[in-house]
Amino acid sequence: SLPVLIDCDTGIDDAIALTYLAARSEAEIVGVVSSGGNVDVHAVHRNNRVLTELLGLEVPVCRGAESPLVAEPMTAGDTHGPTGLGHAQLPEPTRPADPREGAQLWVDAVREHPGELGGLVLGPHTNLALALELEPALPRLLKRLHIMGGAINHRGNTGPTSEWNIAVDPEAAQRVLAAFSDAPRRPVLGSLEATETVQFGPDTLSRVEDLARRSGHPVARILVGALRWYFAFHEADGFGWMAHVHDPLVAAHAVTGDFAGTRPLAVDVELVGTLTRGQTVGDELSRWGRAPNVDVLTEVRAPALIEHLLASLEHGLDR
Ligand code: BDR
Ligand code: CA
Repeated sequence: SLPVLIDCDTGIDDAIALTYLAARSEAEIVGVVSSGGNVDVHAVHRNNRVLTELLGLEVPVCRGAESPLVAEPMTAGDTHGPTGLGHAQLPEPTRPADPREGAQLWVDAVREHPGELGGLVLGPHTNLALALELEPALPRLLKRLHIMGGAINHRGNTGPTSEWNIAVDPEAAQRVLAAFSDAPRRPVLGSLEATETVQFGPDTLSRVEDLARRSGHPVARILVGALRWYFAFHEADGFGWMAHVHDPLVAAHAVTGDFAGTRPLAVDVELVGTLTRGQTVGDELSRWGRAPNVDVLTEVRAPALIEHLLASLEHGLDR
């Protein structure tokens, strides 16, 4: 199975991705880095510590940086709730926290699994950018990087043209993409055009509610409380009673290679634009004449993915 390090800002869809990965035999979670993002890094860290504990994962969970490299911190409590997990009530973590910094965990994990480790960034890129300063060879040591981020020539969910994970720390995302330009395999980028096709509707929510009722598993209950908040947020945002669930697509593609195709593209991050800072600009017509630096997810098989996610959650949490 693929050893994976997950850097995330849990976060409702991050929690689903984490639970999914914990349930899959194709993946072996070797650590979790808590990134500031949806909520501040302390709240994210608490969520990650509690979730890993409740999922029975005995892996290091390390707190990332307090703020982005250059930008002021921003959070999205309206989207994910004040704790990051909507209405869910979480117990306190009981295991002692790992004192290492998130960036150090990236370096330690990749050195422990050279050429073998899958890296997953499901939040802002701050910690991976800091890890590159500690270990510049990281892109060559990682088996492959999978990113949830960006909106390629597509409307944004944060600014008119920017996606959350990139908009929070554009400098970090730009540095990561630049550093990975000579990685053995191009990073995979799951951007909004792909991830917004993954929509949980009332039937999906019912399946998770049934699972929580049947199993009584605390993580299933947490996901129900989180998803109900996420649905209400999307409804208030004009999308109806549903939720865009972004991160699990990237997680599933990383460990199965399935549920979406990829297309090579040259992508860079706008850092200066007064209206477009944080935009991921894709050079569709090769105007730059640069080699492609990412594989963008495309042609998502959303219904199959959703069924696969539900079956995995049921397998992992039904006891
Ligand atoms: C991304 O932003 C976060 O709110 C989600 O967890 C996802 O990683 C979508 O833009
Ligand atoms: Ca996320």
